[in-house]
Amino acid sequence: MITTICLNPCFDKTVTVDAMTVGGLHRVRTMRTDPGGKGANVANVLSRLGAPVRCLGLAGEQGAKAYEDLLEKAGVPQGFLHVCGEVRTNLKIVSLDGSEVTEINEPGPMIPEKRLNDLLKVVRENCGGDDFLVLTGSLPPGCADDTYARLVRALNVPAVVDASGKSLRASLAARPFLVKPNKAELCEAVGRKLEDLGAVERAARELMDAGAQHVLVSLGAEGALLVTPDKVWHADGLKVKVSSTVGAGDAMTAGFVAGFVETGDFVEAFRRGVAAGTASVMTDGTQLIRLEDYEALLGRVTIREV
Ligand SMILES: Nc1ncnc2c1ncn2[C@@H]1O[C@H](COP(=O)(O)OP(=O)(O)OP(=O)(O)O)[C@@H](O)[C@H]1O
Ligand SMILES: [Mg+2]
Repeated sequence: MITTICLNPCFDKTVTVDAMTVGGLHRVRTMRTDPGGKGANVANVLSRLGAPVRCLGLAGEQGAKAYEDLLEKAGVPQGFLHVCGEVRTNLKIVSLDGSEVTEINEPGPMIPEKRLNDLLKVVRENCGGDDFLVLTGSLPPGCADDTYARLVRALNVPAVVDASGKSLRASLAARPFLVKPNKAELCEAVGRKLEDLGAVERAARELMDAGAQHVLVSLGAEGALLVTPDKVWHADGLKVKVSSTVGAGDAMTAGFVAGFVETGDFVEAFRRGVAAGTASVMTDGTQLIRLEDYEALLGRVTIREV
């Protein structure tokens, strides 16, 4: 079983309007609502890949039921503890020709320390036998920087952390199995620009010196680099028709974890991660991945040891 944690779920509400003008009145042409939040997105992709998964987390009591129903409908078993407030809505306003997206993201409810402790207890009591714990997304208001570190320490289960800034840094001391920064997040973590793959590898090794066991750096169209204590692999970026790059990192994390749980092999997990990440850029912003894209891409991923 793979458990993903979603501390700040949201309704991803996508509306299309003819054209967006600041200060203007807009009539909505089409509208859809998807269950969002990175933890939920990773779980959703894992479920699509056929991996046993559930999503646990914290959700504002207003809207929680509707959110949980949407997740279940998407094939993701879930368990959320409720907090005061409402599940936030992230609004994406898309122009009818698809050329522009304006995003308005709410912060989400304040998380009381007590509720976070309740969630830690649920995780300790229910996830001890899991294969993987996936911790991803920005922390909601009220959560200290070491929240992911506490979740990693709560269990003796390999954890993946996909976070940025202080929460990424703070997670390292808890020795997560894998961290998955993108290039900008890795630059921020080490405090300098990274000019080439050698520099990316050195920066990844600094995260390992600080506690990460393995580092998967996603490089957008440039592919990705997987760094382990004794090996480094690079995967080229695949040339595909790009619809939306939002959520490519979430799909990559899901593909990697599904692959590692199934095979225990780093190269195969890496291949599946790259295929899933790439499949996600081929769908528009409201969709995650299509299985047929993922399967067609698997054979195209080239991985070489650096
Ligand atoms: N434009 C692209 N063309 C081809 N492959 C891409 C492209 N963008 C992303 N990918 C694939 O998806 C993987 C993850 O993408 P990326 O580095 O953009 O993640 P991210 O910045 O963490 O995304 P997010 O946080 O929005 O989910 C890349 O390593 C690559 O394999
Ligand atoms: Mg990311």
